[in-house]
Amino acid sequence: MSHGNEQIFNPAERVAKISHCSSMEQYKQMYDKSLKDPEAFWGDIAKNFHFEQNVTGKFMDYNFDISKGKIFIRWMEGAKTNICYNCLDRHVLAGKGDQVAFYWEGNDPADAEVVTYGELLKEVCRVANVLKAKGVAKGDRVAIYMPMIKELVVAMLAVARIGAVHSIVFGGYSADSLADRMLDAQASVLITADAVWRGAKLIALKEIADDALKVCQAKNVKVKMSLVVQHMKNVTAPQASSNGTANGNPSKKTHFDDKVGWNSGLDVWWHEAVKDVSSDCPPEWMDTEDPLFMLYTSGSTGKPKGVLHTVGGYMLYAATTFKYTFDYHPDDVYFCTADIGWITGHTYVTYGPMLNNATSVLFEGVPTYPHIGRFWEIIKKYKVSKFYTAPTAIRALMKFGDEPVKKYDISSLSVLGSVGEPINPEAWMWYYQIVGDSNVSIADTFWQTETGGHVITPLPGATPTKPGSACFPFFGVEVALLDDEGKEVKGEGEGYLVFRRPWPGIMRTVYGNHERFETTYFKKFPGFYCTGDGARRDKDGYIWVTGRIDDMLNVSGHLLSTAQVESALVEHPAVAESAVVARPHAVKGECLYCYVTLAEGNDFTEKLIVELRNKVRTKIGAFATPDYMQLAPGLPKTRSGKIMRRVLRKVAVGDRDFGDISTLADPSIVEVLFQHRPKEGKV
Ligand code: WTA
Repeated sequence: MSHGNEQIFNPAERVAKISHCSSMEQYKQMYDKSLKDPEAFWGDIAKNFHFEQNVTGKFMDYNFDISKGKIFIRWMEGAKTNICYNCLDRHVLAGKGDQVAFYWEGNDPADAEVVTYGELLKEVCRVANVLKAKGVAKGDRVAIYMPMIKELVVAMLAVARIGAVHSIVFGGYSADSLADRMLDAQASVLITADAVWRGAKLIALKEIADDALKVCQAKNVKVKMSLVVQHMKNVTAPQASSNGTANGNPSKKTHFDDKVGWNSGLDVWWHEAVKDVSSDCPPEWMDTEDPLFMLYTSGSTGKPKGVLHTVGGYMLYAATTFKYTFDYHPDDVYFCTADIGWITGHTYVTYGPMLNNATSVLFEGVPTYPHIGRFWEIIKKYKVSKFYTAPTAIRALMKFGDEPVKKYDISSLSVLGSVGEPINPEAWMWYYQIVGDSNVSIADTFWQTETGGHVITPLPGATPTKPGSACFPFFGVEVALLDDEGKEVKGEGEGYLVFRRPWPGIMRTVYGNHERFETTYFKKFPGFYCTGDGARRDKDGYIWVTGRIDDMLNVSGHLLSTAQVESALVEHPAVAESAVVARPHAVKGECLYCYVTLAEGNDFTEKLIVELRNKVRTKIGAFATPDYMQLAPGLPKTRSGKIMRRVLRKVAVGDRDFGDISTLADPSIVEVLFQHRPKEGKV
């Protein structure tokens, strides 16, 4: 991460002029209040939402210090609400039923649809009734494996309406990954779709889901229903598809029904299930600390963690961060490109915008299909004013130069957000100057699946920004930097990025494993939530997140643990041992560099390399496919057997500046590894 560009960019005037928070003085005043009197600060915000019952106990209660006992976090004890009611009924009752909730834009530009808040409420109630009729009750887990279509939003809100817990699995995950997550959650229902086009690629979601269901069945986890959206008949197939499903005529829809395998007794078509069902379904009034959803994120042991969020605090935090970070106003059109299968989609495609009664674009496709100007075309079409994407997408599009952007009038844009990984100053500048025409505010938002919403971010009407810095903490968030001994680094300096107290949107536990929650986030530094990231504070107090300092890596904004990939590799019979590290990558940020030690009698052939790459794809998903695979006759281990990954990271980039390797059991292995490096550009 460059420490270079410390140029300061003031908020765009047109943003500051109308902003909810339009100066650093106002930010500081609000921030101070949020820390001094969280009850007054969040209590005022809570008044904008519907609570069926008000707080009866403590407004906030917590323990962050593991040496004093169990870690817990509770907000608004005794209050009752329903987040689906707050996303839909509240607006419809206020006369906003005809307002557009989503402009759905398909993978193919020929496909588009508009859906209002009123229409969504009806469809959500129908699906909620379908789930109830199947016996899904408060607290039950429902797995969702779907493309970016309005039914995905409907599904999650329907689950929330009846007090069940949604567990959404990103549509790019493999059958094994889906099965693991369904088993861990003991999901009783799965909601999916027949298939989806992503660019020119067909993803047969139901087929993958069926494979996952077989695994669940074999492990005796009973799934009561697989609810399937018939999506393919409504969408245009790619023109030059070679797999037989497309027909070369973009006006023709894809015929896919005959390709869908059917398990009678389990599978139910969505459109048939909702046909004669009432569009009225009273919400289940939930305790604020009842679970809302779980979302799996990589863990350093290799087994994913079910990050659990609860209803009340998450609701306040999603709504408030959305409002302030994007400086949302009613005439905005907002477009977040993240898939709902990730936390960014949960909080900033569905809940945050809908709690604010916003109008958003919901995009099914990819940035480069059918052409590299697809984002800009969409922004122009809907006059998008607030845009939120990832550095990896910005870098990928930057490669094509300025012209594809300049072709479209995208002057409606006023706030541009970035999320998922540190944004390099070069990408920041391109985003600002070329996409934003130097007339926007940039919000580089730092947060995690665990934090529920933005925790460090500029506010677009207030914060003078520095390219590459996430700037300052959001309301209610108290940042500290700690050194290796847990001593606080005050003022300028670098350290572990930690938080001293809870904000409403922080996760509450790891599903089914509270001990893992405590160990992962609270054990290293008693009294603090530990992010796993490192950060630097500059002389002006700006926070610069430098990236993960644990065994996690970030590929195109997707977190993976090295252990997860290693365990996939060693499942191959030819592999005795493996070690995986991150290597910097110009577009993805980081990519996977894998070292494999082979079992006796195996050769490191091209065929084996392909098999190993495929192993990772099937165990995890295509986005985790390794870029580099190298033979390691041995791994650099200390005498106690610990792999010295620092050395492997150096070998991966061809750097001989190892530092001290005297603690290695066999220092000569380093040179051997060097000799086995694959040629640049070759895996
Ligand atoms: C990284 C995504 C620097 C970080 C919302 C974090 C970032 C991990 C930023 C969480 C940013 C996310 N600057 N790093 N603006 N945003 N990260 O759980 O390493 O998928 O810990 O949540 O992404 O990834 P997750």
